[in-house]
Formats: sequence, structure tokens, C-alpha cells
Amino acid sequence: MLDWSDTAATTPKLAPQPAVADDSAAGSLSHGLGAITRGAGRVSVDEKAMINCRADVNQLLPLKYRWAWEKYLAGCNNHWMPTEVSMQADIALWKSRDGLTEDERRSIKRNLGFFAASESLVANNIVLAIYRHLTNPECRQYLLRQAFEEAVHTHTFQYIVESLGLDEGELFNMYREVPSITDKAAWALKHTQHLDDPDFRTGTLEADQAFLRDLIAFYVCFEGMWFYTGFAQILSLGRRNKMVGIAEQYQYILRDESIHLNFGIDVINQIKNENPHLWTRAFQDEVRVMLTEAAALEVAYARDTMPRGFLGLNAALCEQYMRFIGNRRGAQIGLGPIFPETENPFPWMSEAMDLKKEKNFFETRVIEYQNGGALSWD
Ligand SMILES: [Fe+2]
Ligand SMILES: [Fe+2]
Repeated sequence: MLDWSDTAATTPKLAPQPAVADDSAAGSLSHGLGAITRGAGRVSVDEKAMINCRADVNQLLPLKYRWAWEKYLAGCNNHWMPTEVSMQADIALWKSRDGLTEDERRSIKRNLGFFAASESLVANNIVLAIYRHLTNPECRQYLLRQAFEEAVHTHTFQYIVESLGLDEGELFNMYREVPSITDKAAWALKHTQHLDDPDFRTGTLEADQAFLRDLIAFYVCFEGMWFYTGFAQILSLGRRNKMVGIAEQYQYILRDESIHLNFGIDVINQIKNENPHLWTRAFQDEVRVMLTEAAALEVAYARDTMPRGFLGLNAALCEQYMRFIGNRRGAQIGLGPIFPETENPFPWMSEAMDLKKEKNFFETRVIEYQNGGALSWD
């Protein structure tokens, strides 16, 4: 059995190392790449904190935030790859002359175009902004898993483009060509831009609120609101037996995203609990405005994407769904209703989310392939 208790006997003699970390140095606070403090004490749970933490971020254990670890495990249990989904039915339908209306084609392409670049925007924000400033190793462990899932989602759009023979430039550049998509991306990027500044540091009221604003913009508005209307559009088509391969992939993306969203909500609420001075009345009002703006941008996108609407889906229903979801997201971070109370126009979305396949995911998939069928929508 290995014995780690007496390392002195086996440690080679090295020249004295000049770099000794100063715990008080701002640079050594959070990123985990500072010089090692030789002989520093072991990390205790009480020292761990979401932001501005001085405890070593390179030590996962002892866990403080079990919810973050559990989401990491849940994400791993949900592993899937887009190439496991058959695209044959979608290819036949896309290439048929009258299987889809022009309105449906436009809506599908805009939806794919929105997601294709958005997955990268979300991934970049996680890796280049959020990861740096979240000073907790179990949350970082989840972020690494989430970053991989965003890569799988980006891969999904590459696979769809390739399968259907779509114009890759048209789809991936759409976020810079279609104003209603550009407006959404630009709004989210506005909230993360200064976190990308190498000199940005949390630790002041202003900086910590900026970090919270970024978390709310990306987790609550981008992934929690915009993605959900995007899922509803494609899943609505899937329910009518159209583009069932893409719909199946969206169902798996939705399952991943529901964990991303819930992780983000837990992070925001935990930061609020540990730093109640950040959650001022003025800041709450600002967040309410953010959710209102995000909903308005989504409504503009829905009108642009579905100018006439089609069976089961139109811009008015998307607007109603956005308000319903906006109120739910607001409540999840402790805000009262943002929009007038409204019914969920897509109650089937909660069923689409409830994919009970975690335990025997691949076994189920094999059986589905053998049956030549896809996921059930009813
Ligand atoms: Fe994603
Ligand atoms: Fe995500």
C-alpha cells in the first residue's frame, strides 16, 4: 500500500525556491496559479467561499457546496453525442419539395443560426470570465463539465449543417448578419466585456455586482430565457413529426441546459447569501430591467423568425412563453413577478425536459435505433 505520510525521506533535495506566495497579494487570491505557500495549513470548509476566497482553489475536498458536485455528477450521467442521433428523416424532409413550408424553413434556419454561435458565446464566457472569478473548486469542476457540454452543443450544429448540406457561413455568421440575433448577442456581451479585461478583479462592491450581472445575463437571460423559446420552436415541430433528429438533439441539449440554468441560479443565490450587501434595492431594480430587456429582445426575434407563424407556433405564443419563463426565472433568484401573470402556452415543454434516461441512456438508445424510432413526444 502506498504511504504518503513520510515524504521527507524520498523528496529529492532541491535548491531553495524563491517563490513563496503572499496570501495578502491580490493576484494570489483566486485563480489557483499563484506561487505555492510552502507548508500552508489544510483547507477547512469554513474558509471556502464563492467569490473573493483566499482558500486554495486547487483542493476540491473538503466539499462545501454539495449542490455543485451533484450537478457535476448529473451532467456526467447525461453524456451524449450528436452523432448518435440519426438524421435520415430530417435529410429526407429537408430535401423534399413540399415537406416544409417556406416559413418553417426560415424559422428552422434562424433557430439553428442563433444557437450555432450562442453555444460558443456561452462557452467563452464560462472559460474566460466566470471561471476566473468563481473562487470555489467544486463550482469550477462543474464549469469544466459545462464547458465540455457547450462544445458538444456546438458540435451538434456542425453535425446538422453537414447532414442537411446547409451553408455553413450563412448559419454560423447569422449572429452578425440577422439584426434580431445580433441584438441578443450584443446585449449579453455587454454584460461580460469588462470581466474579460485582464485587470478586472472582484473584491469591490462595483466589481462584485458586475460579476453578478454577468452571471444573470448569461445563466438567467441567455440560457434560462432565450434558449427555452428556441427549444420550444424546434420541439413544437418535432411534436408534429418534423425534423425529428434535430428535435431529439434539442431534447438532449435542453436536458443539459436545465442543469446549466439550475447551477447558475444556485451560484447567484449563494453569492447573494454570502454577500447580501450586493443585492441592494437598486441592483434588484436593475436586474428586473435586464429580464424585461431580454424578453423584449426575444419577442423581436420571434417576430423576425416567424412573421406569419405556423401550426402550433407563432410570435404571440413565444411572447407569452417568454413572460411566463421570465417570471419563473425572476422568482428563482428572489424577485417578485416581472410581467403580468400568464399561463404556460407550452405545457408540454416540462415533459420534454423530463427525460428519464439517465440510468440506462445508451441501452435505451440502442433499443431506439433497433426500432428505428426516436424519442416519444407525447
Ligand atoms: Fe449549450
Ligand atoms: Fe449551456
